[in-house]
Amino acid sequence: PTVSGVPHLLTDNDLSPQQLSDLIQTACRFKHQVKVLNKPSDAPLAGKTMALMFSKRSTRTRVATETAVAYLGGHAMFLGSQDIQLGVNESLLDTSKVVSSMVDGIMARVGSHSEIETLAKYSTVPIINALSDLYHPTQILADLMTLHELYTPKGQEPHLTAPTKTLKNLRLAWVGDGNNILHSLMLQLPKVGMHITMATPKGYEVNAGILKQAQENAKAAGTDLGVFHDPKEAIRDADIIVTDTWISMGQEEEKKQRLKAFEGYQLTTDLIESSGASKDWKFLHCLPRKQEEVTDDVFYSPRSHVFQEAENRKWTILACIDQLLVKKGF
Ligand code: CP
Ligand code: NVA
Repeated sequence: PTVSGVPHLLTDNDLSPQQLSDLIQTACRFKHQVKVLNKPSDAPLAGKTMALMFSKRSTRTRVATETAVAYLGGHAMFLGSQDIQLGVNESLLDTSKVVSSMVDGIMARVGSHSEIETLAKYSTVPIINALSDLYHPTQILADLMTLHELYTPKGQEPHLTAPTKTLKNLRLAWVGDGNNILHSLMLQLPKVGMHITMATPKGYEVNAGILKQAQENAKAAGTDLGVFHDPKEAIRDADIIVTDTWISMGQEEEKKQRLKAFEGYQLTTDLIESSGASKDWKFLHCLPRKQEEVTDDVFYSPRSHVFQEAENRKWTILACIDQLLVKKGF
C-alpha cells in the first residue's frame, strides 16, 4: 500500500495481477542482464542505503537483498535484533522514525505482521516485507519466476515471455502447515491464472481472513482453490507440489506436538505418485528444509527445483528494490 505517499510491499495483495507479472518479468531481465550479458547496472542507488531490520534469522533473503543492493550501487546495512533496539528496548514507532530518517529503504523481517504495519505507518521510506508470521511476499515472486522459467517453451526466453502465458492453468498442491508461505501463495497464484489445492492437518489450517481474500482472488480470476485435510486429495492432478517446514521460526516450543500432528504429511515419491499427481510433477520448497516434511528422494531428485528457486530470490528482490527505490513505486 501507499502510506502517507510512501509505497510499501507488505502483503501479496499489494500487487495487482499486472504488477505481479511485470515484477517477474523484470526479475528475469535482471537475471539475463547479469548472467548472460555480464552487464553492470547504472548504479541508480549510488550513495543510498537500504537497512535490513531482521528480528529473525535468514540466509536467502539476507544474501539476496545485500547482493541486490550492491548490484544497484547502494549500501545494505544489516541490523539484527541483537544489534538494534528493535521493539525490545525502544518502540517500533520510534525505531521506524529514526531509521527511516537516515536510509532510503527498509527490508524488514518481523514476528507478528502488525509489527511491519507499525513500521510502515511511521516510516518515511519504502518498506518491503522480508517475512512476517502471516506473509512472505518476496518468496512467492521467486517461486513464480522459477515456474515461469521451467514452463517457458523451448526456443523462447523467460525475459521475453509473459508469465501469464506460461503459468496459466498450472495446478499447485501444498501439503503441510497453513503458514505464511501458503498464505502468500494462495493470494498470488490466482493472479497468474494458477489453481491451488492445499492439505493441512486439523488445527493447522490457514488463517480464515486470508482464505476469504484468496477465495475472492480466485473467483475474480476464475481459478480453483481447494481446501483439504487429506494430502492425496490435494495432490491429485497437481503439476507442482510444495511444502515448507512444519515448525516456523517462533514456533520452536511447539515442535513435539507439531511433529505428531503432521504425521502422514511427509512428501515422498510414493505418496506423490500414488496420489495421481501429473506425470511431469515438479517440487518446490522455500528452504530452509527439514527431513520430516520431505524425503531426500524428492528433495534431491531432478523434479526438485529448490536451488533455482533459492537463487531467484535475488533476482526478484532486485526487481522489488528497483521498483520501490529506483522507480519510486508501482
Ligand atoms: N526462504 C527464505 O526466506 O529463507 P531465509 O529464511 O534463509 O531467508
Ligand atoms: N514458514 C517459515 C518460512 C521460512 C522462510 C518460517 O516462517 O519460518
